[in-house]
Amino acid sequence: MRTQVGIVGAGPAGLLLAHLLDRAGVDCVVLEARSRAYCEERQRAGLLEQGTVDLLNELNVGDRLAREGLVHHGLALRFEGVSHRIPLSDLTGGKSVVIYGQTEVVKDLIAARLASGRDIRFEAEALALEGLDTAAPGISFREHGREDTLTCDFIAGCDGFHGICRAGLSQSALTIYERDYPFGWIGILSDSPPVSHELIYVNHDRGFALFTMRSPHVSRLYLQCDVDEDIANWPDARIWEELRRRLGDHDPPVPQGAVTQKNVTPMRSFVAAPMRHGALFLAGDAAHIVPPTGAKGLNLAAADVRVLARALIAFYTERSPRLLDRYSDVCLKRVWKAQRFSWWMTSMLHRFHGDTPFERRMQLAELDYITGSPAGMTTLAENYVGLPFEDL
Ligand code: APR
Ligand code: PHB
Repeated sequence: MRTQVGIVGAGPAGLLLAHLLDRAGVDCVVLEARSRAYCEERQRAGLLEQGTVDLLNELNVGDRLAREGLVHHGLALRFEGVSHRIPLSDLTGGKSVVIYGQTEVVKDLIAARLASGRDIRFEAEALALEGLDTAAPGISFREHGREDTLTCDFIAGCDGFHGICRAGLSQSALTIYERDYPFGWIGILSDSPPVSHELIYVNHDRGFALFTMRSPHVSRLYLQCDVDEDIANWPDARIWEELRRRLGDHDPPVPQGAVTQKNVTPMRSFVAAPMRHGALFLAGDAAHIVPPTGAKGLNLAAADVRVLARALIAFYTERSPRLLDRYSDVCLKRVWKAQRFSWWMTSMLHRFHGDTPFERRMQLAELDYITGSPAGMTTLAENYVGLPFEDL
């Protein structure tokens, strides 16, 4: 098999890249290890920056997003039992965010690719990469028990944190930056209306909580928990009780409903640099992980492939590798700013075991400053809606 760009992984990064290349007439093949159903059922976050929404619309895959996405112009930070609104759009010249599940984005992108008849292979697991320092690298893969090799000009490693693309690189080729947080998140999906039409981020003595949603009838709710928490210890009643306690005296109280999904997510900050290794370009979770507190994961993946597509298209239209050579530096500038914002939100909103009374007061004073100062609110707002894209 031969193509111009071999894409490993049909998550948001791989699928968006394929669409961007299709539109410019660059040939590509997407190899995905799991089934279509698995990719379309995997629950993840669901907040889209303005820039990600614009990109999906630009690619004509924004119709359902426009119909079903919930546009938000503000959010609330709640501490010491009081909610403080951050007017995102007022502070950012009208920008907003959209609540639309990552699962839905993936469904829309897969449907559009299948409708285009272009090549996407499910249950086609990439096994190894070869010839990354040659003009004809290859991806050996197994599809329905049969092994084959996809030869290409370039490989896009969009196979997530646990994929083979980054893992196949030698340790000396990579500088790893990481931080693991001493807590995780219990996340539930429930058939209950949201407690508020905007998100509520809660800093509480008992730990962090986040009240978000998927629709006017489906809530997505998160609770800070121990890093090695066993979800079996959290029957639904205990989860609702804890959400009620951390939200505190709020009107209305949190509506309850059937819990349709629950799991524990670890919290990690991770960056692997550089993001390019010869003919291999890492994008999305394959290169970086952010704690979900700032909802930057999906948006960073979209920003990476936006840069990668422009660089690949420039290579095929101008036969110039100039932009490809700048890919890693340009992406890492945005990655580190998103890492900083996600770490900051996580540090400001979670309880750290053993934090001293002084540290606790510092946290509350920072929340008090941020929510009481136009400059403080603007800092949060401009990062939250998405910083301007770096130019190539
Ligand atoms: N061969 C083929 N596909 C693979 C392989 C492999 N060896 N290993 C992993 N994959 C696939 C996975 O099954 C998954 O569908 O690569 C895809 C990677 O997708 P994501 O993990 O969603 O990563 P990415 O596209 O970078 O999206 C990042 O996902 O995890 C969230 O918070 C994160 O929102 C962010 C987004
Ligand atoms: C979500 O809706 O899943 C979500 C929203 C905002 C976050 C994290 C998750 O910061």
